[in-house]
Amino acid sequence: MPSPLDTTKSAAVFAAAQNLMPGGVSSPVRAFKSVGGAPVVFDRVQGAYAWDIDGNQYVDYVGSWGPAICGHAHPQVIAVLSTALAKGTSFGAPSVLENTLAEMVIEAVPSVEMVRFVNSGTEACMSVLRLMRAFTGREKIIKFSGCYHGHADMFLVQAGSGVATLGLPDSPGVPKSTTIQTLTAPFNNLEAVAALFDQYPDQIAGVILEPVVGNAGFIVPDQEFLSGLRQLTKVQGALLVFDEVMTGFRIAYGGAQAKFGVTPDLTTLGKVIGGGLPVGAYGGRREIMEWVAPAGPVYQAGTLSGNPLAMTAGIATLEILRQPGTYEYLETITQSLIQGLLTLAEHHGHALWGGSISGMFGFFFQPGPVHSYEEAKHSDLDKFRRFHRGMLEAGVYLAPSQFEAGFTSLAHTQADVQQTLAAADQVLANL
Ligand SMILES: Cc1ncc(COP(=O)(O)O)c(C=O)c1O
Repeated sequence: MPSPLDTTKSAAVFAAAQNLMPGGVSSPVRAFKSVGGAPVVFDRVQGAYAWDIDGNQYVDYVGSWGPAICGHAHPQVIAVLSTALAKGTSFGAPSVLENTLAEMVIEAVPSVEMVRFVNSGTEACMSVLRLMRAFTGREKIIKFSGCYHGHADMFLVQAGSGVATLGLPDSPGVPKSTTIQTLTAPFNNLEAVAALFDQYPDQIAGVILEPVVGNAGFIVPDQEFLSGLRQLTKVQGALLVFDEVMTGFRIAYGGAQAKFGVTPDLTTLGKVIGGGLPVGAYGGRREIMEWVAPAGPVYQAGTLSGNPLAMTAGIATLEILRQPGTYEYLETITQSLIQGLLTLAEHHGHALWGGSISGMFGFFFQPGPVHSYEEAKHSDLDKFRRFHRGMLEAGVYLAPSQFEAGFTSLAHTQADVQQTLAAADQVLANL
């Protein structure tokens, strides 16, 4: 095994953080609870790399959980941000920048004819849910087990394996009354969704899903599942919502809906469109979006929404992404990584199932196939934990959970991938 890194300073800062912030972090997964051991504390990020405060360098496959698709601190993004900064940090008034980013999103994402900017993916999803309910006059929604749509009450529902599990809150503090209208079904199971529509005729406002799941590991949809959902929701007078907070501008410039050729009614976005600053968005058909205040009666607002720095970073990021060859590069680099890992695992006698689309990938320590969260849960979590720690020690920063997708960027090179695979070879040999 590689020799342990010196992480003395990280350990001290994280120990202090635990007295200052719950669990020592601003967002739970960062605390490494599911893989054990202390997290490393970042000092700076650049390109494909992150450095901790002890000076250790890592090849970073988390990319701030998705936004860093051009590579961290891309010079073009930093340059326009510096100029924008001199004009002020927040306007709280209309700006040309909002028009520009809105036009870029509308042009790129097939379902989006109008868009509203917010500050996070959570906000985008909770707002879209209000809009779905208002537009249809129905209250129930269907989500899929293992899909994450932010931390709003209505989405925090036990991801039970049973079909038609009536929403039991996943967290204390979430009233049963807010999740009672949330129905769940297993991903890639169209029959389960059809059964829910049969069980609750004219009561379901719509279906929301991660079109490619990244919050239960990496799970690819069957084409028939997505097409079937499109048809079923149409027949039932319900809305189809793609939560593309993770997949938007990541697996294709037009997101999963462009990649799979299935156009939902509404779409949520986040991560990439903010270029590393806090942004979310929701958009869709004009006749639905015109229900949003002040054009329509559905209230939703935000002091910092459309923030000029965030809009600037988003515009610069999309300008880089829309250059020819971008997604082909991401596809090639990510496939080298995941195919290399699968080959090494087989060589060392470990069952590993994995895949990638463009700059998004995942792998499970199990033979697979994995079509749903229910199947993902059969993975060997202890093996993942030991693999994760070994890779970290070898200078590779992977998402600290078996149930999170990984990300590459335009800054990752074949040399980075080869370095990663050399580390994996060692770690897998000793698992
Ligand atoms: C698919 C999806 N939806 C919503 C969210 C919530 O976004 P945020 O963390 O910006 O609130 C996430 C976050 O990872 C996500 O992956």
